Formats: sequence, structure tokens, C-alpha cells
Amino acid sequence: MKMKNKFLATIFGAALVLGACGGGDDNAGDKDSAAGDVNADKVYQANCATCHGGKLEGKNGPALANIGGQLSEDEIHDIIENGKSGGMPGGLIKGEELDAVAKWLSEKK
Ligand code: HEC
Repeated sequence: MKMKNKFLATIFGAALVLGACGGGDDNAGDKDSAAGDVNADKVYQANCATCHGGKLEGKNGPALANIGGQLSEDEIHDIIENGKSGGMPGGLIKGEELDAVAKWLSEKK
């Protein structure tokens, strides 16, 4: 498990260096922002993209492309954990995945 994730991280790291350097943030891309062993982008795509869009552009949920400029990592963490009244379901992800996605989103500015 650990090994495999390390391996994946290496691949994503390499892709990042080759492809996405220089910060085009609306290209949400496959950034695996060094949050431990979890690939936050993958977790996001699996649990959040249906409402927030595959590129954080928003759908029936609001766009999250600049969410790091509006909310702190803690606030984002809290919303993901507990949900928000207007249709954001809480408890979709937990533990490491929750931590990783909160961190990843807080870097979207
Ligand atoms: C069923 C649709 C749906 C899913 C799935 C969903 N969201 Fe949301 N999300 C919403 C809606 C709707 C809002 C707006 C709620 C409000 O403002 O009261 C929201 C709000 C948010 C906010 C706050 C945005 C802001 O500007 O205040 C964050 C952060 C967020 N979602 C992250 C996530 C993450 C991360 C996931 C996956 C773990 C996720 N959401 C999954 C519908 C969804």
C-alpha cells in the first residue's frame, strides 16, 4: 500500500514537472500536492466532481477554483466534514482523504 502510493506519487510528480509547472490554476490538473499518501485530486474526482465540476469550475455546487483565497484550510476541512446548509453533504470523505483534500483545496488560489 505505502509502496504503491509512493510509486504513484512519483509518476504524478513527474507528470507535474513535465506538464503543469507555472501555476495555471484553473487547469486543476493532476496535482498531487504532497499531502501524504493520498491523491487528493483522485479523491476529489471520485466524491466531489459531480457537484463541483472536474476542473473545480462548479456545477450544482459552487466553483472551488479559488477557494483557497476565500477560506482557510481549517474552514474547508470543516465544511467537508460537516457539510453546509445549502446542499453540501458532510461526511463524504474522512481521515487522511479529508485532510488531503482540504489541504489541496486550500492551495487553490
Ligand atoms: C451533492 C452535491 C455536492 C457534493 C457531492 C459535494 N458538494 Fe461541496 N457543495 C455543494 C453545494 C450545493 C455547496 C454550497 C453550499 C452552501 O453554500 O450552503 C457546496 C459547498 C462546498 C464548499 C464551500 C464553498 C464556499 O464557497 O463556501 C466546499 C469547500 C465544498 N463544497 C467542498 C466539497 C468537497 C471537497 C466535496 C467532496 C468531498 C464536495 N464539496 C462534495 C454541493 C456538493
